[in-house]
Amino acid sequence: MLTASKLTKQFTGLLAVNEVDVAVEAGSVHGIIGPNGAGKTTLFNLISGLLPPTSGSLTLDGRDITAAAPYERTRLGVARTFQNIRMFSDMTVIENVMTGMHTRLEYSGVAALFRLPAFRRGERAAKERATELLEFVNLAGKARSRSGDLSYGDQRRLEIARALAGDPRLLLLDEPAAGMNPTETRDLATLLRQVGQRDITLLLVEHNMGFVMDLCDRITVLNFGRKIAEGTPRQVRDDPSVIEAYLGTKVAERLAKAHGA
Ligand SMILES: Nc1ncnc2c1ncn2[C@@H]1O[C@H](COP(=O)(O)OP(=O)(O)O)[C@@H](O)[C@H]1O
Ligand SMILES: [Mg+2]
Repeated sequence: MLTASKLTKQFTGLLAVNEVDVAVEAGSVHGIIGPNGAGKTTLFNLISGLLPPTSGSLTLDGRDITAAAPYERTRLGVARTFQNIRMFSDMTVIENVMTGMHTRLEYSGVAALFRLPAFRRGERAAKERATELLEFVNLAGKARSRSGDLSYGDQRRLEIARALAGDPRLLLLDEPAAGMNPTETRDLATLLRQVGQRDITLLLVEHNMGFVMDLCDRITVLNFGRKIAEGTPRQVRDDPSVIEAYLGTKVAERLAKAHGA
């Protein structure tokens, strides 16, 4: 579905992403792991179009999207959430979900300005759909709460609902379990499996090794901007270069745990 070929991003004096090849298969859950600063978020920024690559290319369904603007990628079905949650804190939960639909709404700006029937119909449909999505992520009871007042875990699920509001086919999740307690993390894994059943391909960055190993079909490992390993969770877990990359970090302990040590 998505391929990156020799994708490279150079910041002054630093190759944050260095000739990375990744192929994400349609219908799969694909994980990106690697120590802090490995280039995971930068890779996501390249895929979502937030940053232009220095070199290399990207295709979506065989179509070259290397130079496509972020909104074009959204239209083609790419959505994402952010490592540092981004939402409109002062808006209600349901309003935040509705902001995720603006690329799909069918009424014109004029219709909105004069509150024409087309606008009111569109608005009603959007509200219904947003309510469904909130039910899906288990936030229906908080639809009218101020988004900024939600717990961390709830905010992360709200971000997922908003991303789903654009009807994506490929969803990028940057550390979705960060800041979640073990129960929330378990519920998130269940939720993401359900997202996968909706014909949405998932690409996710996550530090929680148990979570990644459990959820992913395939994992790509980055270190200092380079791809150092790739394969099934088991292959990656047993790869000496991966263990070495994580050595001396807390994640090494988590890897060992996932290993059953
Ligand atoms: N906009 C930027 N300008 C300069 N350097 C950056 C920028 N974004 C990220 N970096 C650097 O690129 C490297 C990779 O960062 P990042 O992609 O955020 O890593 P990860 O998400 O794997 O922790 C880091 O050394 C980081 O400091
Ligand atoms: Mg990051």
